[in-house]
Amino acid sequence: MAKNTISRRGFLRLLGYAGIALSSQQILSACSNRVNQPIDYEITGEPDIEVRLTAKPGTQQIFPGNSTNVWRYTGEVLKGPSDSLISLPDSFLGPVFNVKTGAHLRVHFENQLPEKSIIHWHGLHVPDSADGHPRLAVENGENYIYDFRIMDRAGTYWYHPHPHGRTGPQVYQGLAGLFLIHDDEEASLDLPSNEQDVPIVIQDRYFDKENQLVYDPSMMGMFGNQILVNGQPDYEIEFDRTAYRLRLMNGSNARIYKLAWNDGSPMHVIGTEGGLLEKPLKRDTITLAPAQRIDLWVDFGMWDPGSTIRMVSLSALTQDVEEEFTIFSARINDTEYSAQTLPETFPNHKVLSPAQAVNADDPRTFELEMGPGMRWMINGQVFDMTDVSKNEKVKLGDVEIWEFINQGTGMGGMGMGGMLQPHPMHIHGLQFKILERQVDPRNQDSYNGLKDGFIDEGWHDTVLVMPGEKVSVLMQFEDFAGLYIYHCHNLEHEDMGMMRNYRVENS
Ligand code: C2O
Ligand code: CU
Ligand code: CU
Repeated sequence: MAKNTISRRGFLRLLGYAGIALSSQQILSACSNRVNQPIDYEITGEPDIEVRLTAKPGTQQIFPGNSTNVWRYTGEVLKGPSDSLISLPDSFLGPVFNVKTGAHLRVHFENQLPEKSIIHWHGLHVPDSADGHPRLAVENGENYIYDFRIMDRAGTYWYHPHPHGRTGPQVYQGLAGLFLIHDDEEASLDLPSNEQDVPIVIQDRYFDKENQLVYDPSMMGMFGNQILVNGQPDYEIEFDRTAYRLRLMNGSNARIYKLAWNDGSPMHVIGTEGGLLEKPLKRDTITLAPAQRIDLWVDFGMWDPGSTIRMVSLSALTQDVEEEFTIFSARINDTEYSAQTLPETFPNHKVLSPAQAVNADDPRTFELEMGPGMRWMINGQVFDMTDVSKNEKVKLGDVEIWEFINQGTGMGGMGMGGMLQPHPMHIHGLQFKILERQVDPRNQDSYNGLKDGFIDEGWHDTVLVMPGEKVSVLMQFEDFAGLYIYHCHNLEHEDMGMMRNYRVENS
């Protein structure tokens, strides 16, 4: 058994050093960077934070014996607080961004991979020039400069490559990282923070006998047989008997998880992709599709000191999994219990109602299906670098309802049993509300296995659309005109073409 355990302590230590390393000047500048006024997203002048991110091949000791060849992001803070980037110890994952709403960020991306790449800031509301659209991909030896203001509220976001046709393999090789945003509203809430704020990036990978990654996807996507948390197998974390915030992220290419505590204890969900919920939710299971994030509030004092509990993924009929498997183990330290209270409500930053939608009576529809040539398509079309169809043009400022339909009506439909697939649909550049799910009774079984774990409340950038399901979402195209994309976040489906442009046009 691999012994690559306990990295939380390492993470903390790292945070500590980062704090100590701050010179008084940096601390001063960190304070003056705080923006409390409404955000002016016009990008002028010098950035508050400037970093360099380099993507390049490397190695990582994941198992005893041979180290594993990976691709990774390495980061360097050129300007601003030194803890704007925090490395996860013993991990191939990229550094964790740690920034505040309102900050002007400049990122120098250097591509030292043997192929094209570009970085997408998943979940962030940024101008299209900073969104990492595949048309912006740069070749080996080239760089791309991102300049944008952080306009999103506090929450758990992430970043990963987005070159057309190669996103799946590049993420699989190790290119991904968390992007944490903080704001004053969140800071006023007294939520668990610092050492009690723990990232949990969940990925599955397939390794050969030499400990090397094998990338060999099917039409269903790439599935591994080994779970990694924060880049490590058999992950164990120690917790004191108090409250923690766990930021769960599904960084897998295709796997959907049905998360639960092995003893059946309920889970308290406090946040989704777009930040805190209006109020905490209590669930026995959580369905986490690729690219989705969930923040949990966990009181580890409810378990006995010295005990170990496990977060598991339960069997669900959707994918190839019959049995439950462990995501990570939590060891409860023998510390005195320090009780914390879970707030009953969180500030709700924004209201969006279906009545505001310009197309409330006639929503845009997007059929998700397998088309000719065994390719995954949206409304019968695969990705084209610049093509935008009539159904894909929206007006700046408009509120709209979009309906994703996964009825299996195409060539790969009901007749081809194995090809009914769930599709985690993601829209760039914004956060949306999930309005409604309608399910076809023929597909109740796979649906029922996961539906109790759906967290449809709050703000999202990715929604799971099960076979036989119609899901409608509500959003507003604010601030930026330009070319964005929407796609299935099963990365192999995306690379096969299940992605399209949408254009926000000035009205
Ligand atoms: Cu997480 Cu288009 O991406
Ligand atoms: Cu995205
Ligand atoms: Cu899909």
